[in-house]
Amino acid sequence: MMLKKRLLLGALLSIVLVTAGCGTSAPKAEAGAASASSAPASGGSGPNSPVTPQPTSPPASTTVVQGNPDQGKQLFDSNCASCHAVDDQKIVGPGLKGIYGKSALPNNQPVNDANLAQWMKTGDAQMPGNPAMSAQDEANISSYLKTLK
Ligand code: HEC
Repeated sequence: MMLKKRLLLGALLSIVLVTAGCGTSAPKAEAGAASASSAPASGGSGPNSPVTPQPTSPPASTTVVQGNPDQGKQLFDSNCASCHAVDDQKIVGPGLKGIYGKSALPNNQPVNDANLAQWMKTGDAQMPGNPAMSAQDEANISSYLKTLK
């Protein structure tokens, strides 16, 4: 009974010390008994507990496809480069340098991943679309186009 209580006090004290950020090694049971009376006070009026878990990583998302610029370059070279330069020179279509800094696509939609994916799929009267393009290909090409600054 007595031993159990001392062990409990010791455990409580080490929790208080650890949560207070004290770097000293955990006290033995004797120290716990000696300073037990001060432990509740320092625990109650001490600094806020630093053990509140912080949500460090964003919640996993299954809908956003992560693009790979290297694979995007390969796709661009085989699907787009015949008409689009990566500088500001016009070939058949406009050069795509800085496309992500432009205010809008030819269809007046703001330049972002979703609208660009839609644009690549559908094209317009002057640009043939790629209706079979996968979401992964679109994300890869978009991430490559972002590197054209
Ligand atoms: C057969 C030629 C051709 C191919 C292939 C082609 N495009 Fe285009 N693209 C065009 C033309 C022409 C325009 C201009 C359309 C307009 O102004 O209405 C254009 C416009 C664009 C624009 C808007 C540029 C701007 O400055 O407004 C983007 C972005 C674009 N294309 C991306 C692509 C991507 C990515 C691919 C490959 C998946 C691709 N295009 C394939 C001809 C092509």
